[in-house]
Amino acid sequence: MEKIEILRSTLRWSSRLERADIEKLLKQATTLRDEVMGLSHKERFVQAAAGGEAIPQEEVERMPRERRQALLERSFIFEGTFGDNPKLLESLETAEKAAPTDLPVLIDGESGTGKELMAKVIHANGSRQDRPFISVNCGAIPDSLLESELFGHKKGAFTGASSDRRGKFESAHTGTIFLDEIGELPLTGQVKLLRVLEAHEIQRVGSDEVIAVDTRIVAATNKDLRSMSKEGTFREDLFYRLSVIHVSLPALRERRDEIPLLVAYFSDEAAGMLKRRPVRLTPRLRDFLMHYDYPGNIRELRNLLYRVSCLAGDTADLAHLPQDIRPKPAALATVVPIGPVGAVSALATSLSEAKRAASDEAERAFLERGLQEVGGTVAELARRCDMNRSHLQMLLKKHGIIRRIFGGRGWRKGQRGRGTAVAVCMALPPYMPALATTSHS
Ligand SMILES: Nc1ncnc2c1ncn2[C@@H]1O[C@H](COP(=O)(O)OP(=O)(O)OP(=O)(O)O)[C@@H](O)[C@H]1O
Ligand SMILES: [Mg+2]
Repeated sequence: MEKIEILRSTLRWSSRLERADIEKLLKQATTLRDEVMGLSHKERFVQAAAGGEAIPQEEVERMPRERRQALLERSFIFEGTFGDNPKLLESLETAEKAAPTDLPVLIDGESGTGKELMAKVIHANGSRQDRPFISVNCGAIPDSLLESELFGHKKGAFTGASSDRRGKFESAHTGTIFLDEIGELPLTGQVKLLRVLEAHEIQRVGSDEVIAVDTRIVAATNKDLRSMSKEGTFREDLFYRLSVIHVSLPALRERRDEIPLLVAYFSDEAAGMLKRRPVRLTPRLRDFLMHYDYPGNIRELRNLLYRVSCLAGDTADLAHLPQDIRPKPAALATVVPIGPVGAVSALATSLSEAKRAASDEAERAFLERGLQEVGGTVAELARRCDMNRSHLQMLLKKHGIIRRIFGGRGWRKGQRGRGTAVAVCMALPPYMPALATTSHS
């Protein structure tokens, strides 16, 4: 820990690093990683010696929180975040058990559920972690180039083969090959892949030489390979060979309990990337993020957080969502009624979050009502409330309330009266994207 802290503070306080310094820091980081990995291997060895199975049955039946904690304590390497969702924990535990073996793994799940991340997790937790991880997208290679891409070719094997070339399998020798979108592999490619799985050897296109390859195979798909093999579009024997270990990743809408964690994780990640403070989310945006269906799963959530972090000032609201998924005014009315504050705070996942949500909501309702009462004049509201004008403007900006909407063009008389503040926002959704850039005077 001490070494890690020294490394962190070196990085924190350097405004600029020369290549040589970067190399030095990298070397220190690699040594540290090896030390940590050494510890984790020792721990695994002790576990294996003590009880055979890495994860005893009683543990699988434990409460999700304890299962998660146990995974972390076993130094499980995961380049992301995960919570207590039982479906996801099951996949992670399977991956953890499979990682140290060389058995083929098939990962399935909808687009954006983290299949590639999971493949890397399996690689990073296994004995090949320091060897290459080679990724091949089977859906992106034209049929005519597939064989050469996977197995390489000999000079002159076909027009354009101007020199000998190694294929992906050779590059992944002693490491892991990740065959992404395996369901897109044409039948001819499937036959050749089966041969590698059976014989652990390849032949470059145009060559008679047989080359032994020691490659761990992890494949991924968003298709149902079992049904495809029944229909005859995917070889059944290949399916069984690839899926010795089968890991299924649940869609994000089936693990909504993970959303708050992912939101915090991606807000921080985006803040780091955009060199800004993590964005705050209004309760209604948070509510939207909790209930949205996410056809693009975790990737979509990640992109949303990057988008709102880029577009919003301190606080992001529904207006910062892409137009096509932004809730319609009518839907908004049912999701966030302006009534009792508890409606919003009930969505919070902790007491402090509930308090903050309730206080935010009360503040927003107060400002909206106040502005209505003074006909939209910020200076007047500041005077009546005995507040500093620029502080008031900052609060209005934080809540995405623009003075203009209570005054001239956008404000319709019929909407005045109690409980109409949200209706005001709903009546004018198009003004909101301008929030991030509008300066309020
Ligand atoms: N548990 C997680 N924690 C943090 N980030 C995650 C997690 N799961 C997935 N991600 C991130 O979500 C994005 C999508 O993940 P990934 O590319 O692995 O999905 P995929 O299932 O391979 O998608 P596709 O089917 O479209 O290829 C990546 O940026 C990945 O890092
Ligand atoms: Mg992928």
